[in-house]
Amino acid sequence: MTVMHELTTVKPRAAVLAMPEYHPPLAARDALRLDFNENTFAPSPRVLERIHAMTDEDLTKYPEREPVERIVAEHFGLQTDQVLLTNGVDEAIHLLCTTFLDPEDKALIATPTFFMYDVNVRLMTPGLVKVQADATLEFPFERFMAAITERTKLIIVASPNNPTGTIVSREHLLAIAAAAPHAVVMVDEAYYHFHGETTLGDIHSVPNILVARTFSKAYGLANLRIGMLAGNAELLKYVRKVCSPYNVNGAALACLPAAIADDAYLNWYTEQVRVGRERIMAGLDALGVAYFPSHANFVLMQIGPKHGELVTAMRAHGVLLRDRSADPGCDGFVRITIGVEEHVTKGLAALKLSLEQIGWSK
Ligand SMILES: Cc1ncc(COP(=O)(O)O)c(C=O)c1O
Repeated sequence: MTVMHELTTVKPRAAVLAMPEYHPPLAARDALRLDFNENTFAPSPRVLERIHAMTDEDLTKYPEREPVERIVAEHFGLQTDQVLLTNGVDEAIHLLCTTFLDPEDKALIATPTFFMYDVNVRLMTPGLVKVQADATLEFPFERFMAAITERTKLIIVASPNNPTGTIVSREHLLAIAAAAPHAVVMVDEAYYHFHGETTLGDIHSVPNILVARTFSKAYGLANLRIGMLAGNAELLKYVRKVCSPYNVNGAALACLPAAIADDAYLNWYTEQVRVGRERIMAGLDALGVAYFPSHANFVLMQIGPKHGELVTAMRAHGVLLRDRSADPGCDGFVRITIGVEEHVTKGLAALKLSLEQIGWSK
């Protein structure tokens, strides 16, 4: 049957027409998921208990965010008004762009990086300034500093960065914030747990830093969609004004206190990743595959012209990877997520076989 679409002459805003689209390859992921930097295993068992304890009446209620913000703030040693829970860091990015960017403002990012910054900035302003890393893919600190102007209103820096796994030192992040006191500086710490350095403690003394954390990665809650913005209460007051009161669902709010209380689980998972990361990097050395040393739960490999063939061969072995070739400066690069021990073992074995099968050589 042919489906007819109604014709319409309605067009969206010009900015929406001009925006790039982000459609990650989410279809047919019934395999070992080493493609999206998720936790490859499970969240804390306490989270599952909490989900199972939800009642039918719980589902009928609008979610209440504030009591959980109090618990989260206490956990991180913050005041409640210094914390905003969001529908993943994705929503935090969206909220910062919609709250702070006028069409004549500039926003500054270093590329390659997480694509959602691009999408959300361009929804609000054509003034997205990108500073491209050189071939090392290290954060281009000097050129980034030089790109800050009085028109810069929002700066977003991921540390560790995705898809490179590189970091920006706390000292450099503070220098960026000091050089742009008229701008909001969002430090995206989505992969903080796999690295360990944070600017969360600096939000008390630096008025323009907002730290974003996700519960999608180390905590294993990607499907619940929950993240947090922490920083200056005055800035967050503006963001709260823009944010829906019901932005985070009740299942996520019910589970988050259980997830953050289970340090033993978090430490176990992050240690699995740290050990797995060493194994993957050693395995790549042995195979002769070049890569960028990573501080996150993934490694970016330099495969070259056979990047697509490798991803297809790995899929045939039941392992999903993410081809990052379309990212700026990443032609021929493929990213592999690090998970728990058995997933790393399976990923490495499939990688060795697949490279042989496609006749890959340096
Ligand atoms: C750097 C970075 N920030 C944010 C996100 C999105 O996090 P969330 O699941 O909380 O929306 C990702 C996900 O891949 C990411 O790589």
